[in-house]
Order: sequence, then C-alpha cells, then structure tokens
Amino acid sequence: MLENHRFKTVKEEGKIANLELALKENPTKSTIGIGHTRWATHGRPSKQNAHPHASSTVCVVHNGIIENYQELKTKLQKKGVKFLSQTDTEVVPHLIEYHYQKTGDIKKSLSSALEEIHGTLALAVIFKDREDVIAFAKKGSPLILGVGENENYIASDYYAVSAHTNKIIILEDGEFGIVTADSYEIFDSAGKKLKKKVKIMEAENSKISKDGFDHFMLKEIFEQPRVLEETIQAYVNIDNGSTHLPNFPFDLKKINKITIVACGTSYYAGMCAKYLIEEIADTEVEVDIASEFRYRAHPFRSDNLMVFISQSGETADTIAALKYAKSRGQKILSIVNAPHSSMAQLSDAVIRTIAGPEIGVASTKAYTAQIAVLSLFAIELGFLKGKVDKAEKLKLIAQIVEAGAKMNHFFEEENIKNIKKVARYLVKAQHMLYIGRGISQVTAFEAALKLRELSYIDAQGIAAGELKHGTIALIDKKMPVIVIAPSNNLFDKILSNAQEVKARGGKIIFISDKKGIAHFDKMADKKIEIPQLSGIIQEALLPVVSTQLLAYYVALFKGSDVDQPRNLAKSVTVE
Ligand code: F6R
Repeated sequence: MLENHRFKTVKEEGKIANLELALKENPTKSTIGIGHTRWATHGRPSKQNAHPHASSTVCVVHNGIIENYQELKTKLQKKGVKFLSQTDTEVVPHLIEYHYQKTGDIKKSLSSALEEIHGTLALAVIFKDREDVIAFAKKGSPLILGVGENENYIASDYYAVSAHTNKIIILEDGEFGIVTADSYEIFDSAGKKLKKKVKIMEAENSKISKDGFDHFMLKEIFEQPRVLEETIQAYVNIDNGSTHLPNFPFDLKKINKITIVACGTSYYAGMCAKYLIEEIADTEVEVDIASEFRYRAHPFRSDNLMVFISQSGETADTIAALKYAKSRGQKILSIVNAPHSSMAQLSDAVIRTIAGPEIGVASTKAYTAQIAVLSLFAIELGFLKGKVDKAEKLKLIAQIVEAGAKMNHFFEEENIKNIKKVARYLVKAQHMLYIGRGISQVTAFEAALKLRELSYIDAQGIAAGELKHGTIALIDKKMPVIVIAPSNNLFDKILSNAQEVKARGGKIIFISDKKGIAHFDKMADKKIEIPQLSGIIQEALLPVVSTQLLAYYVALFKGSDVDQPRNLAKSVTVE
C-alpha cells in the first residue's frame, strides 16, 4: 500500500487468513495497493521472500520467473544495490527504479526494464511519488484489467475482481500500461497505445461459496451430476440427438491423428480421451505430458489435430506446448473451463467445459466435465467419419445422460458412510496402490494422484497387468491395494491380478458394482459399491467419483488442508 508517500507492507507466511488478521491489526486509509500469493520458485516460502519486493522508490508484485535474474542481480549489485531476499523478483523494482530515476517517466522506465528482463511475468508496480498509479505488464503469465466505477483493478483472473466489476480487459503478452482509479492506458511491446475491447462477463461471484459444505472440494464433487446435465444441455439437442459443438475452422473428417497435451488431472482426462476416441471414432490418438512436449521431435503432419486440455487455461507448461505446436502450423483445439483464458485466446477452436468455477485445488468436477466434453467430441468425430450411425450416437449420448443420474448413488447416506469407513481403515497407510485395466487404469492413475496431493500418502496408480513386472515386490500386509474393477470384459483379468496381491498378503479394497462385489466377497478386505455401468463413457465418468470421495475423507481424517493442500497452486503459471 502507499500511505503518505511511504510504502506500507504487510506480509505473512501460510494461509491468506493470516494475512487478513495482520491487515486488521494494521488498518490503512490507502486506496492503492498491490498483493500476491507467492508460489515459491526461487527461495523458500518465508516472510522475507514473500511479495511485494521494493527498492526505495518502486514496489512490485510478480507472477512468473525472471530467467536472467542472476545476471541482472550481479549488474545491480555492482551499482551498489543490496538484496534482501532470495527471489528472482527482487531485481525488478531496482531495475525499474534505475530507469525511472534516469527518465522520470513511468512508461519509459517500465518499457526499458521489460527489454532487459527475460522470462515470464505478470507485474504490478507502484511508485513512491505517485499515489494515483499502478503500472502493469504481462508476458507469459495471466493478467487482466478490471474496469470499475472510479476504481480499476489489475489481477491474474476475472474471479479475483468479480465481486467488484464484471467488465474486464484481457491483456496479451508484451502488453503493459498504467492504471489510475478512473483511467487506463495500455501499450504494445513497441510502446504504441492500444484501444482494447472491454468484455462484459457473466456475474460469477454469487456462485463462489461453499453452499453449506465443509469444503469447496466436497461441494464440487457433489456438483458433478449437475455438471453433466449442463454439459448435455449446452451441447446436445436431446430430442433429436444432434450435437452442437462449436464450429471448427478445419474439416474434422480430414483429421487422421489427434495429439492431446495436458498436465496432471487434465492429462488423465486426455488419456481417457485416447480410449474414447480410438474406440468410438476409430482415430489414432497420442497423449503427451505438456512439460515434456517441446523437448522431443514431433513429425507434425497436416492431418493432425492438437488438443490441449486445461481447467484454468493458464497452465504455463500447456501454454508453452500450445504455442510451440501453433508455431509449427498445427491446428489447435483447446478444451478449457475458463473461456477467456490465455489458452482459449491462442486456439483455433475452443470447447468450453461447463464445470463452473473450481475452487478446491484438487480437480474433481473439471475432470468429469472434461471427460463429458471429450466423449461428445469422440461421438461427433465418429459420426462425421461414418464410424458411428445415428442410433449408436444416441446410445452413446445416453451413457452421459444416465451417468449423471447414476452419480447420485455415491451421495446416498449409506454410501458416504461406507466410504468414510474405508477412509478410516486407510488413514494410517504409508503407501497405497490403485490398479485398474482398460479405461479404469486411467481412473487408477487419477485416483492415486488425488490421494497423494490431498493426504500426502505415497500412492501410485498402475495398470493391473503391470504389477507382476516389478511393482508386486512392494506388496506386503501393510500395502492396501485399491482394485477398480467394474464387471466388464476385463473383470476376470483383474480378478486374477487381485488374487496375486492377496496371495502376497496385500489388503484389497474393491471398487465394483453389485455383480462384481458378489464375486469378490471373500477376497476383499473392504468394498465400495458403484452403479452398474453401461459402456466405456460411464466407466470413465463414474468409478472416479468414489475415489474422489475416498481421497477427500482420508485427507480430512488425516487433518490435511483439503481445499489447499501443501505446496500446490490451483493454477500453475510457472514452467
Ligand atoms: C490435480 C490437479 C492438477 C491439474 C494440473 C493442470 O488435482 O488439479 O494436476 O490438473 O495442474 O491444471 P489445468 O487443468 O488448469 O491445466
């Protein structure tokens, strides 16, 4: 904050609530301020390394990574600058100050500093002698301008300002500018003044509440039937089975290969899509981890479609992969939950997932929304390519519609009671395995990630048939193994894999439908019942919900911070 031409800084370690308390103890009349939740890149999480960082006259918050900070730091140290933190960010205020002292001009000083900085940034800057101004810049990290009545904002995304305004300007890489309470100026990287469109957003703020649930995550798990229903409403005419995906500026019929790129849970949605698209549309699919995508050779072909999946649309690794594919002339389709995100802006076509804002750090409803949309995409592709006829198309769509209704089974009191019981049984486990076959193998990967990130238990997902090729060495009586086994064509196979675990003393937690459970009754130490599935889409959409609930309750009973697990950020905007 700026108060009587002095920087007033309040920093806290840990939760935002700590900062709220500290701010209450340090009231201010200031009407200009900058703030940032730091996700540690350079230097450990501490008060000293927390933003803002300041020189004597310039103060900044920064999201991103200054790649040449060491070089800039050495240069500044030679001029006598003393650094107080281990961060890369601390070079920025000193660099801007250096240029500001030379020119006395905010625009020029920012532009000169930006020329010297390599890396990614979303920057907000205040100047000791200008109580009316915040300067800003964007390169690689998300940034928007919120336009209010006699008040303006700079923020990473719309949700941050949605309580104050629904008018925003989406900034693009290379842009920078100056904002006051009642004016703003935006420039391109060459310093030319830009006229940018103000977007009127849907009022979102009313939706951001826990609605009586203890955590956002639990609320979001329970929202999934509604998410499926809204996805169908948005993209399907249920009376005649026609689908209304957005128009693609390329001919889907001519696509012979699809490459899907994403991170984390979105990557697992991509793995599900491989099963769905290859089975339904008979089209080859490759799935890549975004952070690795640029670092190996790709035989890019003109009949290839690149699909990027992201809840936030701001994941730095995915954006970098997208830009790389775009620079190689590939067709780009994004599947994002944030319609105005950077990824959406960069793509040739966008299919929006209809999950609504996802606040819990662990992705739940965004994952099922991604699978629903990817299923519709697979169905449309199969239909256009003549692999799926009208009757088959209707049956496949019905799988999604029915999945919504079947999902409610998980939320029945009896089922929640049982999942809590299983969670208590697992709460002391140090290690855990999830196994599955076919598309349920992907559920095993996603389920293990969810448990790991929430409860900090060392959980691995593994293709059941792979166990015997090494991982089975881990099995002993302290190793719980969650077996995801709907009674389908692979049921007998996974039954044998579970027997192998049992024979070595492992504990079996069995996730299956009534029919499957009847088979497993004697072998299972614990059981979680799922509805009878009808087809591959339901297999991707339904068992995962029981694993989300299980991860939630294990984490809850362990006392973890469910909505904000340690070391994680909701939107990973650094590479
Ligand atoms: C796990 C989780 C992460 C994200 C990943 C990608 O629960 O949420 O693994 O899925 O960071 O994020 P998006 O989808 O925003 O690109």
